[in-house]
Amino acid sequence: MKKIMIVGAGGQIGSELTVKLRSIYGGANVVATDIKPNDTLGGDGPFAVLDALDARAYAELVARYDVDTIFNLVALLSATGERDPQLAWRVNIGALMNSLEIARENGCAVFTPSSIAAFGPDTPKDNTPQDTVMHPTTIYGVCKVTGELMSDYYYHRFGIDARSVRFPGIVSNLTLPGGGTTDYAVEIYYEAVKHKRFVCPLPEDMYMDMLYMPDALDACIGLMEADPARLVHRNSFNVTAMSFSPEVIAAEIRKHIPDFVMDYDIDPLKERIAASWPNNIDDTCARREWDWNPKWDLASMTEDMLRVVGKKIGAGKY
Ligand code: SER
Repeated sequence: MKKIMIVGAGGQIGSELTVKLRSIYGGANVVATDIKPNDTLGGDGPFAVLDALDARAYAELVARYDVDTIFNLVALLSATGERDPQLAWRVNIGALMNSLEIARENGCAVFTPSSIAAFGPDTPKDNTPQDTVMHPTTIYGVCKVTGELMSDYYYHRFGIDARSVRFPGIVSNLTLPGGGTTDYAVEIYYEAVKHKRFVCPLPEDMYMDMLYMPDALDACIGLMEADPARLVHRNSFNVTAMSFSPEVIAAEIRKHIPDFVMDYDIDPLKERIAASWPNNIDDTCARREWDWNPKWDLASMTEDMLRVVGKKIGAGKY
């Protein structure tokens, strides 16, 4: 990777990936783009407003900056997607297809995140294998399976260096996620610091995989820098660092805030979505093929989240 473009850089992953990539590859070599103007992404490198569905504007930027690697991070997430499936398909697949086509025309590598949402109710729930049944029941998951298949197709058919990981929920403290089923695992920390109380939209025993953002960023970069000769898989690798349920994360928070209270007000849509996803996935292939090795677990992540969120919102206590 020498000249990188991030599409959808204003989102939860992009806002932090931009900073990390610029620290490694140089500010001028990482072009951040987003559909909305952004005050921070232009600070130490190029930024452009770009609607990823506008193929001509997208292609012009790739040519202008002589881009060799595209991070396609544009997506409507799972819960938002269910509220407007047609829009979710148009945005998620539109951005994907433009990214793959522009990569084909310009000889770029492409990273597009897939998700645990690519799995469905008939997928084995525990220790979910890398290669298994994939019949998602959300439009977001359907887009992710399509993305995996199209990315592999472009690799086999056109030799495009397309790679991806199946992200679980990502916990972070710079930019909030939006419209996802795993968002509760971020919101809980803010509410714990602010009010010592959280109203959880998912049942107490609903297990899902999660990653802390520093590990998610390492996954993006580690996979794109991996020796292609070692890659048996490409689209897409299971990656995870921990699996927990709402009651487990609440118990961890109580180690720091003993009077933290959790109430439940179940959101039926999110419950249905979460129930269709794995409890915990097996990431052996990522570990074997490109040395994936996450560093954060629930305990260390919770300590760090409470400290950073506490500072951010002025409580200063954690
Ligand atoms: N975080 C996403 C969601 O909840 C899953 O990839 O929609």
